[in-house]
Amino acid sequence: MSRRISGFKPTGPLQLGNYVGAIRPVVRGQHEQPTVVFIADLHALTVPHDPVLLQARSREVAGLLLAAGVDPDHALLYRQSDVAAHLELHYLLECVTSYGEAHRMIQFKEKGGGGGSRLSLLTYPVLMAADILLHDIDEVPVGRDQRQHVELTRDLAVRFNERYGATFTVPEAVHPEVAARIADLADPARKMGKTNASTAGVLFLLDKPDVLRRKIMRAVTDAGTEVVYDPDGKPGVANLLDILGALTDRDPREIAAEHEKNGYGGLKARLADAVIATLEPIQRRYHELTDEEIEAVLAKGAERAAERAGRTVRRTKAALGLTGGRRAPAGSPATPATAGRPS
Ligand code: AMP
Ligand code: TRP
Repeated sequence: MSRRISGFKPTGPLQLGNYVGAIRPVVRGQHEQPTVVFIADLHALTVPHDPVLLQARSREVAGLLLAAGVDPDHALLYRQSDVAAHLELHYLLECVTSYGEAHRMIQFKEKGGGGGSRLSLLTYPVLMAADILLHDIDEVPVGRDQRQHVELTRDLAVRFNERYGATFTVPEAVHPEVAARIADLADPARKMGKTNASTAGVLFLLDKPDVLRRKIMRAVTDAGTEVVYDPDGKPGVANLLDILGALTDRDPREIAAEHEKNGYGGLKARLADAVIATLEPIQRRYHELTDEEIEAVLAKGAERAAERAGRTVRRTKAALGLTGGRRAPAGSPATPATAGRPS
């Protein structure tokens, strides 16, 4: 059965886009599919960061994942920095990555990659490849912005397997349905994101109900008053319909038809109710979790993750001719059948 992985960077408080686009699919799929969920805290070091805040955010992300229904008895949940194999495989994969291909990664350019940026910002996609390849992952559910990184992961896996014998499973990017992409309420042209400069249009998972309602009631809408689903002509209203559709598992067009005569105010009030109904139980569970409980889950997860990741690193080292892994005797051809992924 195909194994999936999702990574959450603790660079800001989680917002509704993370929930709809990433957390909920994990929660829904974890009983059917082997699932790996990790807090990508090493990735948060690629840009200037505050150590105290990073620690708090990692804890918050872990707590929210649990509160939202990630079940550590089904999904493997852990914190990346607790499993040293990520760093080990990162370096080994750098040795099959060319400088040119790392440099071509769009996010490096987008995040202002230049002479003064951290070297880790350049090599970040290689760390992401390590995250994925460590676990013999088949499917990586990601947004469009991460597609190129998964392509790089595939390229590195294929190249490594060709050069040194079958070692890695070649993963594939899978994309959540279109309706799962939600936009900033104050600026429907951009994605709702945890690091957006203004928080007026971002619904954070831990926002209090009155704050959520206020942000929704102030959402930018479009000219006219009639509720119709028209993502190009009326992106603000379409976004509200998309969010409501995603939260209630309904077609946004159908919702539009029902609210046609209620105007934007009626639609916003209904959306506020739905968002609050979704987030209140999550917030309640989140506030009940203690630091000890969260740390215990993460410690157990790290132990399990380290087992599989350790096997992958040993296999990789063996293929590369490093001590610590056993390489086939000299003269014998690289044998994909025995060097490959364990069953
Ligand atoms: P990020 O917060 O950008 O690190 O993203 C973590 C996960 O949440 C990724 O799988 C994203 O695709 C997903 N995600 C973040 N923002 C949104 C959004 N506005 N709509 C849908 N999915 C999102
Ligand atoms: N780069 C991803 C993001 O910005 C987070 C991430 C890191 C990730 N490693 C991963 C996602 C491995 C999936 C698999 O959202």
